[in-house]
Amino acid sequence: MRIILLGAPGAGKGTQAQFLTKKYNIPQISTGDMLRAAIKAGTEMGKLAKAAMDAGQLVTDEIIIGLVKDRIAEDDCKNGYLLDGFPRTLAQADAVTDAGIQIDAVIEIDVPDSEIVKRMSGRRAHLASGRTYHIVYNPPKVEGKDDETGEDLVQRDDDKEEVVLDRLKVYHELTQPLIGYYKDQAAKNSAITYITVDGTADISDVEAAIISKLG
Ligand code: AP5
Repeated sequence: MRIILLGAPGAGKGTQAQFLTKKYNIPQISTGDMLRAAIKAGTEMGKLAKAAMDAGQLVTDEIIIGLVKDRIAEDDCKNGYLLDGFPRTLAQADAVTDAGIQIDAVIEIDVPDSEIVKRMSGRRAHLASGRTYHIVYNPPKVEGKDDETGEDLVQRDDDKEEVVLDRLKVYHELTQPLIGYYKDQAAKNSAITYITVDGTADISDVEAAIISKLG
């Protein structure tokens, strides 16, 4: 099963990825988490990525495509994977198509911008695992602590309102065109399932809608 999760920043891709990876027993490949890990480790790539991420801009296609190619060549990706935050530009989507990778499902999580800004201010993240919570909609069992490790949760630097607005602008300009791109691919190739779910519903209802529409 090879799945792509599409949606604006904060639409709930990471949240739904936690359920989907368990259901299909496939790894989550989150380019955002991989970049944050590189920043934390102080690698050259991390240094290059940090400035773009702090400004709400995209990291270059060249870096991202190389990162994902290496990751999907690993053993645990043999039976499939879930791409979260990739592809994010037409050049990245073309790289997937040109590599001959057969995508089985594209899941679009639809949330209006006004709701996104509200959500981001309440998001808390466990950076080591990528698990995310919300102080109101999806609180951890113990305030400020990750459910599985008990480690501290933090607010991401790029969740400040002014950066979120920039990220949304970039999303509409560069990533939203992928909706048409994959709808076209699904129309031409019956092996690809394209579904859209209402991401403003409760987290468990979004999950149920995805499972029911995927069949
Ligand atoms: P990345 O980490 O991928 O961020 P993003 O796509 O902007 O997505 P987020 O992780 O912010 O949100 P999400 O959709 O996963 O939402 P979540 O589930 O957490 O990328 C960060 C940066 O890295 C980019 O800006 C860019 O610079 C760079 N980058 C990454 N990939 C790249 C690429 N391919 N090319 C170039 N650059 C790249 O949910 C959000 C909040 O809402 C949480 O608090 C959650 O608990 C809550 N929530 C979720 N669902 C619901 C619901 N149904 N109801 C109420 N609350 C909900």
